[in-house]
Amino acid sequence: MEKLVITGPTPLKGEVEINGAKNAAVAILPATLLIDGVCTINNLPNISDVQILCKILEEMGAKIVWNTSNEITIDTRNINTNQAPLDLTSKFRASYYLIGAMLGRTGEIEVGMPGGCKLGARPIDQHIKGFELLGATVEVGKGTISAKAKCLTGNSIYMDVVSVGATINVMLAAVLAKGTTIIDNAAKEPHIVDVANFLNTMGADIRGAGTDVIKINGVEKLHGDCTYSVVPDQIEAGTFMLAAIASKGDLLIKNCITKHLECITAKILEIGGNVEDYGDSIRVWYSKRPNKAIIKTLPYPGFPTDLQPQMGVVLATANGTSIINESIWESRFQYTEELNKMGAKITAQGKTAIFEGVESLSGAPVYSSDLRAGAALIVAGTAANGVTEVYNLEHIDRGYENIEEKFRQIGANIERVNE
Ligand code: EPU
Repeated sequence: MEKLVITGPTPLKGEVEINGAKNAAVAILPATLLIDGVCTINNLPNISDVQILCKILEEMGAKIVWNTSNEITIDTRNINTNQAPLDLTSKFRASYYLIGAMLGRTGEIEVGMPGGCKLGARPIDQHIKGFELLGATVEVGKGTISAKAKCLTGNSIYMDVVSVGATINVMLAAVLAKGTTIIDNAAKEPHIVDVANFLNTMGADIRGAGTDVIKINGVEKLHGDCTYSVVPDQIEAGTFMLAAIASKGDLLIKNCITKHLECITAKILEIGGNVEDYGDSIRVWYSKRPNKAIIKTLPYPGFPTDLQPQMGVVLATANGTSIINESIWESRFQYTEELNKMGAKITAQGKTAIFEGVESLSGAPVYSSDLRAGAALIVAGTAANGVTEVYNLEHIDRGYENIEEKFRQIGANIERVNE
């Protein structure tokens, strides 16, 4: 079993380069199934979710060449099956994008029930509602989902909840449908815009991505012969911004879009941290113990749930009592029990956690329950006194490329050890 061993405290200082966004990449790769041609995707994060998706696409007949560790050329002309490998698709969440993409391509697909981080109930009723309104029939079986459509026809779809996955999935299915699809109450995350930009580069006609009404005029086909660069990862950038404050450090975070980070910048300033915005990079530094705060996670442009645990680490040692209300996922406070093992005083109940700020954290063995919990525990390890061992690294490797190397380069005393 692998673990990360971190000896702290070490103020994180220097420069860190942000990779392409995981949650954009895991949608853009399935989106290549809509193309009858070859395209090149760069700034692709080299993380395990991306590697599994590439394996799935290869098993379905795609040819993939890795030009560098962050660039692939993919040829989806010879896809030869409507069945995605069930074992691989059930390993992670974003396999549900294969449904929208294959409905668009051939009108038929079966995938394993999407897995992913255990954050409480993760319904996909809005995806299914969208597919059905476009003319598909969807069957949820024991461990599988299959969808079929003779012909997809554009329609108006009102999302009952703001959902990143359902917005992207319906967009994928609608790109080659007959006529116009309107998605109302759409999610507005930067990766929604990125997937729309990718599809438009390949010949789709999607307007309004990034607002809550997206209009998709169906087109006959998508061409290849394009190169597309994945948007920088808002969540990875935010993780390092919060790591700078938690570790009492000073970081220049490069290759990011600071507009996407405004909600995090605002909170860091509110608690007494320092931020300088250079447009495509951002400097964040600590100068005094953070003030307490009240946080509520919300869909973009609100405070992202995917940075809630990392913010929790900062508030664990803030001056006073802070409150976090998690409004997206039922079970995203599992990391608080691990922080309590490190000396934090956090009481979590339902969707609310109360953080009684302590002076400092102490190293301990801790277990990541999901991807962002794992990132938060690494941040906590750099801030804590003594040795922290972080277990369950498979969660972290799903979404952060070279995480220990990046932390080492900015001063962390961190090592991956195989027990
Ligand atoms: N929801 C429904 N019905 C649906 C879909 C969603 O009720 O059909 C609810 C969910 O239960 C949740 C809310 O709507 O309460 C938002 O869910 P959303 O669909 O937006 O989440 P997702 O697409 O499953 C993506 C990211 C998550 C991130 C959320 C919220 C990917 C692969 N995953 O999940 O990322 O937390 O959006 O921003 O894009 C992570 O990266 O660590 C991660 C968990």
